[in-house]
Amino acid sequence: MTAAIIDGKAFAAKVRGEVAAHVARLKEEHGIQPGLAVVLVGEDPASQVYVSSKGKSTVEVGMKSVEHKLPADTSEADLLALIARLNADSSIHGILVQLPLPGHLNSELVINSIDPAKDVDGFHISNVGLLGTGQKSMVPCTPLGCLMMLRDHHGSLAGLNAVVVGRSNIVGKPMAQLLLGDSCTVTIAHSRTKDLAAVCRGADILVAAVGRPEMITGDMVKPGATVIDVGINRIERDGKGKLVGDVHFDSAKEVAGAITPVPGGVGPMTIACLLANTLTACCRANG
Ligand code: GUN
Repeated sequence: MTAAIIDGKAFAAKVRGEVAAHVARLKEEHGIQPGLAVVLVGEDPASQVYVSSKGKSTVEVGMKSVEHKLPADTSEADLLALIARLNADSSIHGILVQLPLPGHLNSELVINSIDPAKDVDGFHISNVGLLGTGQKSMVPCTPLGCLMMLRDHHGSLAGLNAVVVGRSNIVGKPMAQLLLGDSCTVTIAHSRTKDLAAVCRGADILVAAVGRPEMITGDMVKPGATVIDVGINRIERDGKGKLVGDVHFDSAKEVAGAITPVPGGVGPMTIACLLANTLTACCRANG
């Protein structure tokens, strides 16, 4: 039996539609327009693609989009001054500083200079702490998108064994917190995990977020498990560029009960959740 394909593209379109309807109501009834500022330092090609796609989606749901593109040699003081201006700007409800930043900039310092209430990435140390203690916070977009797809597919996640492969601050750790919040039994596995295949085979929910192309193969998947593939890796195959996940899709889909494809799975949900977080930040700012 082959797995059901979880259509992140369709789900994200539905979420964006709901956000757009809410934004329209906010404008009509209260004269408020949510605003998102995205800051890009340098000319990393992948980051440029992400940033322009975020800007386009922001405008499509009726929000104000502001892009600040700064040269790679921007000083920390100049970047912090821009963030201070955005923090003080009441027309801006969300601020996102695209990562990675050039090496001379201290990412932690920069992220922690964002007003936590405008931190739509959920990376500020206050939001990390709030999430870790189960309090109301801004939740990182990629894990939030994964959780929404899992809830949609399963209903309740309580009691399920979840294995998150990857321990990044952006995905692995917050994903584990969210699954714990939904009463899963959670394991975080990583590059030093002993017998990773056996650990993965214990998972009812397997989230792959390691950044290694097609590392999770079908023999590592429990029959009937739900597999969420966070990876977006560009590889060369048959002389052509191709986008693949951290999961070897063709072998995993023969074993899993449900699986997200790459592209068209987690990726579109990340941007939809960024818009949802910006709307949330705007609603909280306006009582
Ligand atoms: N770079 C890769 N993913 C992300 C993300 O979710 N947020 C930001 N700010 N930068 C990223």
